[in-house]
Amino acid sequence: MPGKRWQDHYTRRAQRENYPARSVFKLREIQQRHRILKEGDAVLDLGCSPGSWLLYAARCVGTSGAVLGIDRKPVSVELPAHVEAVVGDVFEPPAAVLQRRFHALISDMAPDTTGSAVVDVARSEALAEMALHLAGQVLHPGGSFVCKVFQGQGFQKLVQSVRTAFDAVAVFKPKSSRKASRELYIIGKGKR
Ligand SMILES: C[S@@+](CC[C@H](N)C(=O)[O-])C[C@H]1O[C@@H](n2cnc3c(N)ncnc32)[C@H](O)[C@@H]1O
Repeated sequence: MPGKRWQDHYTRRAQRENYPARSVFKLREIQQRHRILKEGDAVLDLGCSPGSWLLYAARCVGTSGAVLGIDRKPVSVELPAHVEAVVGDVFEPPAAVLQRRFHALISDMAPDTTGSAVVDVARSEALAEMALHLAGQVLHPGGSFVCKVFQGQGFQKLVQSVRTAFDAVAVFKPKSSRKASRELYIIGKGKR
């Protein structure tokens, strides 16, 4: 079955490279195309569990940078010293997030899916709107934004909101994202 083969390929590759989830390849593709993360950057990772993006971002920014993640679920993989993960809900961001300033905010947040596309898309859009709101609060001017969202009715409005807040905007579908998945990544560069 092609779908199963796809999953096995990326899952096996992630295991081989010591990442807890195959989602790492989506951020890697985004990084290769858009150069979001730079050495020495402070990065905020929303929806960071089980920790693949944390580990990949940690490598990109190096030990002169720092990565802070937040998720409702804990991260159980071992993290380097310049990476921290806190348990929390982005709709009630803890002081650890609000008191700091970041060069990049990356969000791979996804709602628990219900089987209803309408509900799942609405929840994904709400998460993306919250990510953008947080970006307005914690990103340095010139900072970057990467955010997953399930494509639906509110998608263009969301892209427009990112366009208002950032100098350059792109929409990206990584090859490692299943074709059948509604997920897309909105990328904003140059926070105004
Ligand atoms: C696809 S996973 C992220 C995978 C992660 N980027 C990685 O590479 O390991 C989506 C995550 O979003 C988190 N999430 C969903 N809603 C959230 C919320 N309101 N606050 C914080 N995290 C949330 C989920 O708990 C889940 O762990």
